[in-house]
Amino acid sequence: MKDVIIALDFPGREETLRFLKLFGEERPWVKIGMELFYREGPDAVRAIRDMGCPVFLDLKLHDIPNTVKRAMRSLANLGVNMTNVHASGTRAMMEAALEGLTPDSGERAKLLAVTQLTSTSEEVMRRELLIHATMPETVASYAMNAQAAGLDGVVCSPLEAKLVKEHCGKDFLTVTPGIRFADSKADDQARIMTPDKAFDSDYIVVGRPITAAADPLAAYRRCASDFAKTK
Ligand code: C5P
Repeated sequence: MKDVIIALDFPGREETLRFLKLFGEERPWVKIGMELFYREGPDAVRAIRDMGCPVFLDLKLHDIPNTVKRAMRSLANLGVNMTNVHASGTRAMMEAALEGLTPDSGERAKLLAVTQLTSTSEEVMRRELLIHATMPETVASYAMNAQAAGLDGVVCSPLEAKLVKEHCGKDFLTVTPGIRFADSKADDQARIMTPDKAFDSDYIVVGRPITAAADPLAAYRRCASDFAKTK
């Protein structure tokens, strides 16, 4: 493990494929999110997967268990490597998601739960979501719920990855967005870390520091080599 996942937050398929061409024969892990999926649909996912890039389909499902199970059944056909739900959807919803994602035969995608978005601060969580536990307590408890539901890991801030490993064990995956170089902008992220400090992350998800860089390939390489130092 210890891979960099590039967040392909582009509005359309054209821009996305143009971006991936910069990587030549290299096939980086990529994350396809709502923006691209809602505009271009499953075909764009298949096209990127068929190029040979491992895909994390980041749609963060959150609905009643039966709806999530059926939605996951549809997504299972896309052949992605990783996908996710919100842990706040409850343990029953996560169990239903896993059931929907599991095919009758063959391998299923890894299923992760989003604990708290890396754009949410503890203060906002308290004031708007009325969660009065601390951020670490909330993340640890959501991660344990995800593990109890049979999920493979969580999406969390790199600042909380160690805590998740302490509560759920080293094999429980930590996939962490909110990564910034020391010299790049935080944008809308609130809980961030540099790649060379993400010791307890199995995968780091990096968007704008790579996609908005003057030289995205160089930014990707810098990120990968900084992250490799944490092995
Ligand atoms: O551009 P940036 O590096 O901030 O991109 C981070 C990516 O990770 C975005 O696609 C965002 O949707 C996603 N993400 C996140 N926080 C989470 C889960 C996913 O930032 N908790």
